[in-house]
Order: sequence, then structure tokens, then C-alpha cells
Amino acid sequence: MKKILTLTLLVSMSVGAFAQTDVNMGIIPAPVSVTKKAGTFKLDKTVVLVSADAKNAKMADLLNAYVVTKGGFSLRELKSAGPADRAIVITSAGADQLPFEGYKISITDKKVTITGKDAGLFYAVQSMMQLLPDKQNNQILINAAEINDYPRFKYRGMHLDVGRHMFPVAFIKKYIDLMSQYKLNNFHWHLTEDQGWRIEIKKYPKLTSIGGSRNGTIIGRHPGVGTDNTVYKGFYTQEEAKDVVAYAAARYINVIPEIELPGHSSAAIAAYPELSCFPDKDTFVDEKTPWSGSRKGKQVQQQWGVFQDVFVPNDATFKFLEDVLDEVIAIFPSKYIHIGGDESPKEYWKQSEFCQQLIKKLGLKDEHELQSYFIQRIEKHINSKGRSIIGWDEILEGGLAPNATVMSWRGVEGGIAAAKQDHDVIMTPGGPIGLYFDHKQSSSADEPTNIGGLAPYSIAYAYDPMPKELTADQQKHVIGVQANVWTEYIQTPAKVEYMILPRIFSLSEIAWSQVARKDLKNFSEERIPVHLARLDKTGTNYWVPTPLGQSDKTMDGADFNLELKAPLPGAKIYYTLDLSRPSENATLYSNAIKVNVPKGEKRVLKTIVITAGGKRSVVTETILNNGAPDVKAK
Ligand code: ACM
Repeated sequence: MKKILTLTLLVSMSVGAFAQTDVNMGIIPAPVSVTKKAGTFKLDKTVVLVSADAKNAKMADLLNAYVVTKGGFSLRELKSAGPADRAIVITSAGADQLPFEGYKISITDKKVTITGKDAGLFYAVQSMMQLLPDKQNNQILINAAEINDYPRFKYRGMHLDVGRHMFPVAFIKKYIDLMSQYKLNNFHWHLTEDQGWRIEIKKYPKLTSIGGSRNGTIIGRHPGVGTDNTVYKGFYTQEEAKDVVAYAAARYINVIPEIELPGHSSAAIAAYPELSCFPDKDTFVDEKTPWSGSRKGKQVQQQWGVFQDVFVPNDATFKFLEDVLDEVIAIFPSKYIHIGGDESPKEYWKQSEFCQQLIKKLGLKDEHELQSYFIQRIEKHINSKGRSIIGWDEILEGGLAPNATVMSWRGVEGGIAAAKQDHDVIMTPGGPIGLYFDHKQSSSADEPTNIGGLAPYSIAYAYDPMPKELTADQQKHVIGVQANVWTEYIQTPAKVEYMILPRIFSLSEIAWSQVARKDLKNFSEERIPVHLARLDKTGTNYWVPTPLGQSDKTMDGADFNLELKAPLPGAKIYYTLDLSRPSENATLYSNAIKVNVPKGEKRVLKTIVITAGGKRSVVTETILNNGAPDVKAK
């Protein structure tokens, strides 16, 4: 009985401790400055919520709705407060003096003043909601403080591939909600792929009726073990897309549509084979994936990868693409239209008589210059409509289109090269830099099927999107940073959530916060826990962090004293040392684990975290090695 009591006390103490000690008052991304002051503002139902300006009433409503969920009461909303009122005041007075998207929050015993305009005010309210502590002893007590905040980068993006798998509009909105809570402002909607065309184009209905439907999907990681033989189809109507645009705009998020060209376009070619260099050539089926569809005619790809069948650069294709882009431009008010440009094999262009003649006629050197010609022709059209193109970094090859913005994804080199050519750049490097959120989040064998590559949230957190190689003037071209979510192995909203959380927090902080504010320990131990725990209340899935203080690297030594910490309030760590898989039946961690390993032997510590809501982490293994012959350092 005594033991249970002690544990309960420990757990409830730790919930409070997470919120009280944090220098950032629980805010992600970390603000430019947080100065805590003496005193507290007591939030109860006698507090009035003031917004004099009707334009800001929506922000007051947003905050009030959150107070209801947090405190169980709502605040009276007024145009002005009386001298005796304790008030939260939402105002744009003086906001013109603030940096773009910036805001201030001032908290005293009597009054909370939230200052900002437009996006800045929206972000102020997001911060205010995040800093509200949980009710304790039936009270919400907010530490007095002055918060001053504005973003480091103006472009803060999240991408979502809906070509490989698509998600309901309701989930797209949830994704946008999450982005907005973390002050991200560009949703890059990857709408077309080899495995599915997902946006309605009225002039070309076969794009969705044929191009939006594949007859099966390989099972497992490429090349897979077979096909599910199940039709996978769907697309977003133009009305749905407009609805998403409006929903995002209300949260200060711009939606950038991506229409892939000239590569990753074989679903469009399946619908309209004349867009290919070789309209009569059957769809390529990899020898390693004989199960992935028919070899007869043009098909939407049922396997993953990069395919030879790309758009032929003839006048009919350009007419088609201009028509498509005109409809896209009418749906999406975004200044930027993403035209892809990545991973476009040149093999068919090499084999095509027409393409070779065109290269000669235009005086081009090779197929790379032909791709550059392709992109520049498309850019001209998009520029003529008052918009600008973004392309993946392959658009550097063969010469950049004059006004293009480059997304650097194959590392940082493309971004550096483009900035040196005075082009704007968005950094979105995958691989070891960690902004590909389709990579796995730990080395544990428990990670669900994924594309490969290791990208834990700490790696993305460590990345500084501003390349040191650039001069101050060139650095001005680095407009921001983005993370990408490719969905070959992400079939459901719950798995999207698993893959982006908590990594979206890292993205948010490297996109918004000043470098000097970066603090992995504070981020991992004080803020991530509170934010993840909050997601339980919105039915949102996430990757449960492994125990703080545990490494998955081999540790050498004889005597170990392993101190671990639960990564979430109320979560428990269970462990084994006998090679069995830990569960709630294993030993519950309470004090440092002491292990003595005899010379020439090893022990394996296996842990699992189980949250208060029942979510489970992957199992993490640490080899404790005292010269055992069969242990490789990891
Ligand atoms: C990409 O990941 N192919 C841009």
C-alpha cells in the first residue's frame, strides 16, 4: 500500500514539474525571449476577455474555446474592461511596430495583454494557449512574464504526398491545424504522382477517372512480397481543394499545390498516353516486382520508385500542362506553384527521335538542357499568370529557370548552389539531416514499415537551415525550411500522425526560433512531454519517445548505474535484463538500474515506455558490454 502511494505522488509531482520549471513556459517553438516576473495571474471565470477591435473577435473566441477545455469555464467577452476587472486583453495597438508575424504577451497579476496583428496575433494566441498550465487545486495560475517573439524564417513548410496514399479532407484539415499550432505557414500539397493523380481537372477528366485509380499496391517494402490486388482510387474535387485553401488561410497557412513534371507523371500518361514519348509502349514493370500490375498498355503504377515514362516535350504536352496549371492557379491563390522537376529519367528522351531532333533544333547540349527548356517554358506560363515556380533541386541541372525558387532535398548543396546564383531557396534536406519524416525515428526493430533511413527528432532539431557557406547577401535567399512526408508506406491518418509527431516540433523550432534559443535538453525533457501528452486529448497518434537518458548504443564497462526518466508525464518505463521483451509485466522502473556485468560477458537492457493513455513506445535495447566477444559497437 505504501509503495503504491509513493508512486502516485511521484507521478503527480512530475506532471506539475514539467510545466513549472520551463524557461520557455511550455511554448513550441521557443520564443525570442521569455522573461519571467514575480507574481501570478489567476485565470478563473471572473476574468474578462477584451477585444476592442471586431477584427480580433475570432482570436478571442479561439482563446476562449481553449479556456473552456482547459478550465471548464468560459470568459465573458467585452469590448473594454472596467478598472477593477482582471482581464485578458487582445489588441493590435502598437502591433505595427512589431516585426512581421511577431507578437508580444505581457502577463501581470491583474492583466494579460496579447499584442499582434493578423498572423502575429494568431501566433500570440497559439503561444497563450500553450502556456496555460493545467488546473491544479481547481485553479489555473499563470506565471507573470514578458514574451517577445517573431520568426527567424518567413517560409515554414510541411509537405504531404497524397499521390501514393491519400487522406480524407477532414484529416488534411487536422494536419493544417497541427501546422498552425506550431506556427508553420506553408502547406505543400503534393497532388500528383506515378501512383495516382489526385486533383480534379475539369478539362481532362481521365486524369482522375483513370490516373486516380491503381489496380493494386505491392505488399510490404519494395519490391514487396506480392500485390494486394485491391483498387486504390480517389481524388480531391476542386470544391474540396478550395475548402482546404480557405480553411488554411483562416489559420494563416498558404497552400502550395504541386503538379509533377516532367517526371513522376506516369499516372497522367496512363490517362492520356499521347503525353508520352512512346504512347504505345506498355507500362514498365520491374522484374523484381512481377506482381505489380499488367504489362499491357499504360497503367497507373502499383509499385514505388522512379519510372522512365515521362512527359514528351511537344506542343500538345505544353498545351495540356498549361490548361492543367490554369485550373490549378484558379483554385490556389498561392504565389508559388510547385512544378516538381525531381527524378525525371532521361532514357526515353534519349531514345526518342522527336526529343533528339528538338535538342538539335534548340541548340541544346543534352537532355538536362532539354529538361531546363521544359521547366523554363512552364515557368514563363506561370509567370504570365502572376505566379512563381518552385522546383526540386534537379531544376539546377541544365540551367535554372530565371525566377525559380529551389527546394534543396538531396542534401544542402542544391540550396547553396541556387542561393549563390541569387535564387531563393527552401531547405528540405532528407537523409542524415533529418527533414524526411518518412524515415524511421529510431533503430528499434519495432518501427513500422518505412522507407528507410534514420531520422530521430533530435537530428532534425540539430539542423540549422542557414548554410554557413553563404555570404550575408546570399543568406537572404534562404527563405525557409520544410519537412517532407512521402507516403509509400503511410496508408492512414494515424500513421501520418505517428510519423510527424514529435518531429514536427523540431521543424517548428528550427524554422521559427533563434539559434541561440536552441536547447535539446529543455526541448526533450520539458516541452515535448507536455505537448505529446496534450495530443491524447485530441485523439492524435504520435511516436512515444524512448526513455530519456537511455542510449541505443553499446555501453562498455563492468558496473552500470542507469538513470532513466519517463519521456511523458504519467508514463511508465518497464524493463528487462533477461533478453525477454518488456511489457507491463516486466520490472517497473523507479530508481537507477544497477547492473554488474562479469568480465567477458554482456547484458541487454530492454525498455518500453507505456503512457498514461496506454500508448507504447518501441522497445529500446542497450548492450552493456564487459568485453563480450560477440558485441559489435553500435
Ligand atoms: C523527392 O524526394 N523526390 C523530392
